[in-house]
Amino acid sequence: MHAVRNADLAIADGEIFGIVGTSGAGKSTLLRTINLLQKPSSGSIIIDGVDITRAKGKDLRNFRLSVGMVFQHFNLLYARTVADNVAFPLHIAGKTKNEIGGRVPELLDLVGLSDKSSVYPSTLSGGQKQRVGIARALANNPKILLCDEPTSALDLETTNALLDLLGDINRKLGITIILISHEMAVVKKICTKVAVMSEGAIVETGNAYDIFAAPVHPFTRQLVEHTLDLELPPRLLKEVKGALVKIVYRGEKAEEPVLSDALRKHSIHFNVLHGKIEYINGKPLGVLLIDTIGNKEEIQKTIDYLKTRVESVEVIHA
Ligand SMILES: Nc1ncnc2c1ncn2[C@@H]1O[C@H](COP(=O)(O)OP(=O)(O)OP(=O)(O)O)[C@@H](O)[C@H]1O
Ligand SMILES: [Mg+2]
Repeated sequence: MHAVRNADLAIADGEIFGIVGTSGAGKSTLLRTINLLQKPSSGSIIIDGVDITRAKGKDLRNFRLSVGMVFQHFNLLYARTVADNVAFPLHIAGKTKNEIGGRVPELLDLVGLSDKSSVYPSTLSGGQKQRVGIARALANNPKILLCDEPTSALDLETTNALLDLLGDINRKLGITIILISHEMAVVKKICTKVAVMSEGAIVETGNAYDIFAAPVHPFTRQLVEHTLDLELPPRLLKEVKGALVKIVYRGEKAEEPVLSDALRKHSIHFNVLHGKIEYINGKPLGVLLIDTIGNKEEIQKTIDYLKTRVESVEVIHA
């Protein structure tokens, strides 16, 4: 029995890479192999051309310092102040008192907690606790930041602020971030690339935008569907007169008058029942649910026409 198998991933330097999947999919196990908290039973993990699965002793210790980790439940030391929590990995790395004294305020400033240096974590909000966790993870200037569901314990607003912070850190420091989440909504906000995991395997991987625009694997489709949240109320569904069609179009097509062109060319009517523009990593993606009313042949011709103009056209029910 394997927790993770056939995990073949390439993550580029400086990327924010998301790993999504439901509970038990193997996300944490996969992430823990990247800092060797978990040694894979086969295969290798290559970072900057070096197979870290073979590292031992001093090399292994040094390698571990180059990877920071942020946890869902923060894992702070509650008997120590915020500053001491952030200083902890610096002590472990053998930094001098002077070096630590200089570095801690820098880190607290980076995460916006300069005024909390001498308080204890129990007096902080969840979002602030996670900022401490991030400052601590960045203490030794890691090249990679691993985040295991860093926002799952936080409310929506705090989640967004924290994701913004991770995005800023990625841009400012050029650090590679690997972020686990069970929600596509988190990926949608900051990830450039994403791998989707199900039952111990990576089922799909690609640009975050492409995964949203054109998911291939049924599991990914279900995740995206859930995130787009386009379900029609049963009352409306009953009132659909023709074919219920879902149209997905990429940002750059949003300004083209696709629907009016389709109407002009075919003898049908449209009734727009639902629609939205989602922003994936800042890029717009449009989704529309349309009741397409007319005779079968005209509807089919319209659908064929639309297919030449937009990302995808799917008949949800005819
Ligand atoms: N070292 C191990 N050896 C064998 N099985 C393991 C090992 N570690 C975890 N598992 C099992 O592998 C599966 C995946 O666990 P993992 O914690 O990686 O999932 P996850 O995707 O992070 O889930 P969650 O969203 O709940 O955190 C689980 O069924 C778990 O019990
Ligand atoms: Mg997990």
